[in-house]
Amino acid sequence: MSTINAAYEATATLPDGRLLYLRAIRPDDREKLREGFFKLSKTSVRDRFFSIKRDLTPEELTYFTEVDFLRHVAVVAELQVGSERSPVGVGRFVASQERPDHSEMAITVIDEMQGKGIGKILLTHLIDGARDLGIRHLDATVLAQNNRMSKLLRKTGLPLETRLEDGVRILSLSL
Ligand SMILES: CC(C)(COP(=O)(O)OP(=O)(O)OC[C@H]1O[C@@H](n2cnc3c(N)ncnc32)[C@H](O)[C@@H]1OP(=O)(O)O)[C@@H](O)C(=O)NCCC(=O)NCCS
Repeated sequence: MSTINAAYEATATLPDGRLLYLRAIRPDDREKLREGFFKLSKTSVRDRFFSIKRDLTPEELTYFTEVDFLRHVAVVAELQVGSERSPVGVGRFVASQERPDHSEMAITVIDEMQGKGIGKILLTHLIDGARDLGIRHLDATVLAQNNRMSKLLRKTGLPLETRLEDGVRILSLSL
C-alpha cells in the first residue's frame, strides 16, 4: 500500500524558505493541469512530451488526473502563499507493462519555479511512494540533452543506470 493515496498530503520547505504543499492529484485538477501546461516554455514541453505540443487533449487530462494510486500515482506540488495555494509542479509514476518491478516516472515544474528545489522534493516523495508499493526501479525517459533531469536523479545518490534508445535516454533509478 502506497503512502501516496487519494488522501495524501504533506508539506516541505524550499531552500528559499517558502512553503510547498504536496497532495494527491484529483479528477478536478483538470483545469489546473491545463493552466500549468500553458505556463511551460517550449523547451519544457519538449523535454516532457518529446514534441511541440500546444495543448493537452481531454483524454490526456483524464489520464493525468484520474489515477488509481496503485499502478498510477501522481502528486501535485503547490506553493503556499498566505492562505492561497498555487500549483507549481506535478510528479507521477506509472507501472511498466513489461517489467513488474519497474515504473515510468515523470516530473514537471513550471518554468518560473524551476531550479528552486521543487523537482527534488517531488522526486523524494515519488521514491518513498514507489518503495511502499514494492517498486524496485523508477525509470525516466528523457531526451539525450535533458541534463536537468539526469542531474536531479544522479543527486539522489541511488544507483542509476543509463541507456540510449533511438535518441532518448532511459534513466533507471534503483530504489
Ligand atoms: C527536470 C525538472 C523536473 C527539475 O525540476 P526543478 O524543480 O527545476 O529541479 P530542482 O530545483 O529540484 O533542482 C534539483 C537539481 O537539478 C539541477 N538543476 C535544476 N535546474 C537546473 C538547470 N536549469 N540546469 C542544470 N541543472 C539544474 C541542480 O543540480 C539541482 O540541484 P541543486 O540545486 O541542489 O544543486 C524541471 O526542470 C522540469 O520540469 N523540466 C521540464 C520537464 C522535464 O524535463 N521533465 C523531466 C522529464 S520526465
